[in-house]
Amino acid sequence: MNPVDVALDSIWPAELRTDRLLLRPVTPQDADVVRELLTDERVRAYLGGPASPERVAARQAAYPQTPGAWAIVRITDGRTVGLASIGADPRSEGRAEVSYQLLPSAWGGGLGREAVGAVVSWWTATVPDGGPVVAVTQATNARSRRLLESLGMILVDQLDEHGSRQCVYTPGGDQDDSDLRWLGLTAAHLDEVERRRGAQARATAAGQRLPEDLTILIAEAASLLCPACHGTYGRICAREAGHMPALHLGRASDGGWVAWLEDFPV
Ligand SMILES: CC(C)(COP(=O)(O)OP(=O)(O)OC[C@H]1O[C@@H](n2cnc3c(N)ncnc32)[C@H](O)[C@@H]1OP(=O)(O)O)[C@@H](O)C(=O)NCCC(=O)NCCS
Repeated sequence: MNPVDVALDSIWPAELRTDRLLLRPVTPQDADVVRELLTDERVRAYLGGPASPERVAARQAAYPQTPGAWAIVRITDGRTVGLASIGADPRSEGRAEVSYQLLPSAWGGGLGREAVGAVVSWWTATVPDGGPVVAVTQATNARSRRLLESLGMILVDQLDEHGSRQCVYTPGGDQDDSDLRWLGLTAAHLDEVERRRGAQARATAAGQRLPEDLTILIAEAASLLCPACHGTYGRICAREAGHMPALHLGRASDGGWVAWLEDFPV
């Protein structure tokens, strides 16, 4: 289990209070707000667009079971105005990611900032072994970036995901020179090295025997492939199960050839 999930499990359920908000675990009674958030064009503008009815139903069922998923309740009127969550970041093992969304009627009053600030401070103070925390937001999501920057969070990395440029923020201040910053830089360098090595390995006789398009393999052939849990999200190793040497060789999610060792944090 990812160390972030382990840390969360040990302290969940948790409630957070700020001057104007209560963050409490999502319940099945929040289903209407979940649907509203997932289908609102403005809320979903930088999150892949409005979700399908199937996805809405899946999220309505999953949130109440998910450690780290809070409903954001405005104390003055008791209304649920959004969701905030913290969980394992699939891009980097041991790193937590915070996400947040408010109904447009609650924008513009600093409530998002208050909620995200509470989650980040709580994680840092309550979960000392929880690892670094990041927020990932589209480069063009100006409101979200303003929110993070107003909390003093700093931009440590950028990446392309879901067809858009994404900015990775982490708490700043003393952490300006944090492990995370170095990890980000090392990861970028490592990716370059792995791609170079991948292109070289693909050009060898053994590399050329590997299938070009792994997605068209019939299930039987696919089941013979290396089943390892790979270092970077979306990577597929094209080698056969149990291959030696241990270096994985395959395709990254953007189709480029990469070679990598499983244990590297990428
Ligand atoms: C991202 C999101 C939460 C930002 O909401 P927001 O209300 O603009 O952000 P904040 O809570 O920081 O509020 C800041 C605004 O409130 C104003 N404000 C008013 N009173 C305030 C107070 N007491 N404290 C702080 N700001 C206050 C600020 O001046 C600022 O105004 P501005 O946007 O004109 O500069 C919201 O746009 C949203 O839910 N978007 C959809 C989901 C999404 O994209 N999530 C991000 C990726 S996970």
